[in-house]
Amino acid sequence: MRPPITRTAIIGTGVIGASWASYFLARGLEVVATDPSPGAEAALREAVAQHWHSMVTMGLAKGADPARLRFVATPEDAVQDAQFVQENAPERLDLKRELFARLDAAAPPTAILASSTSTIMVSQFQDACARHPGRVVLGHPFNPPHLVPLVEVAGGTQTSAEAVQRAMAFYRAIGKHPIHLKREIRGHVANRLQAALWQEAFNLVQAGVASVADVDAAIAHGPGLRWALLGPFLNLHLSGGAGGIGALFEKPLWAATEGMWRDLGTVHVDAALGAEVAAGVAQELAPHDQAEMLRQRDATLLALLQLKAAATELP
Ligand SMILES: NC(=O)c1ccc[n+]([C@@H]2O[C@H](COP(=O)([O-])OP(=O)(O)OC[C@H]3O[C@@H](n4cnc5c(N)ncnc54)[C@H](O)[C@@H]3O)[C@@H](O)[C@H]2O)c1
Repeated sequence: MRPPITRTAIIGTGVIGASWASYFLARGLEVVATDPSPGAEAALREAVAQHWHSMVTMGLAKGADPARLRFVATPEDAVQDAQFVQENAPERLDLKRELFARLDAAAPPTAILASSTSTIMVSQFQDACARHPGRVVLGHPFNPPHLVPLVEVAGGTQTSAEAVQRAMAFYRAIGKHPIHLKREIRGHVANRLQAALWQEAFNLVQAGVASVADVDAAIAHGPGLRWALLGPFLNLHLSGGAGGIGALFEKPLWAATEGMWRDLGTVHVDAALGAEVAAGVAQELAPHDQAEMLRQRDATLLALLQLKAAATELP
């Protein structure tokens, strides 16, 4: 049996890396971080201090302490004793390849190397690892990772099943909700689902069907409320009545629903559409204080996460 993971490394401490660092610290883990940009250590410590109030609200694990954060000069120093490495460097393939070669050379052979990459597939850079490419996995979070539970885990062509399973177990053990992608695909799962919705949102504005504010309202005051609780298939299941989702496919409503899929627009956000949407957003926000909107968004999200944690029968 391997010992539980307590020593982590965070490579790249921008938006995502800093958020992961806060979360790992709140779960009582040791974090050794690195980032080459000037002032990165001070910025990271400032970000962790800012996130900590939310972490306290969510509940700290035993031993959780921002002081367990150590900042070092190089990726090699960061991963030297790590059991789990979370990489969050800029989204450039050449950079990820060079970085993973270095992480693989310096990390203990049993350490898992996970990448937060949003758009690159593990198979595109794990072959840069000369020693143990089998321990490289996707560990894609949703922004901000210190609050949002979803992590998408996938292996590349050379990844071992054991590495995927260990990454899934680690994320689960620290309170994340990992999902396993059975094969790699550009954009993974959640961003592809969002992409489908965004395309239609722009299409509806371009086609003059509804204003930007009303398209936003159609989600935030409508299905978005249910989607935070149950995913698309379970929502359909509840729409099917007593017979559930299976019965739904037999009803006339289903053919009409599927018929709509053929009708969805494909759209390019050209300068005119971009300007129209930006003006619509400015108009939507005009009566509101944006800093306060952000604060309320985060506070409401935290409250929702706490409610969800207590709702044991929501999968
Ligand atoms: N921003 C998001 O919403 C989001 C969500 C999920 C995943 N991601 C993924 O997370 C990763 C980081 O994105 P981000 O938004 O935090 O970017 P960012 O630009 O905020 O941070 C990247 C950090 O990496 C540092 N860096 C540059 N070269 C480096 C190197 N050689 N080694 C280590 N660090 C280096 C930079 O100085 C910077 O601080 C990307 O792969 C991105 O696809 C981003």
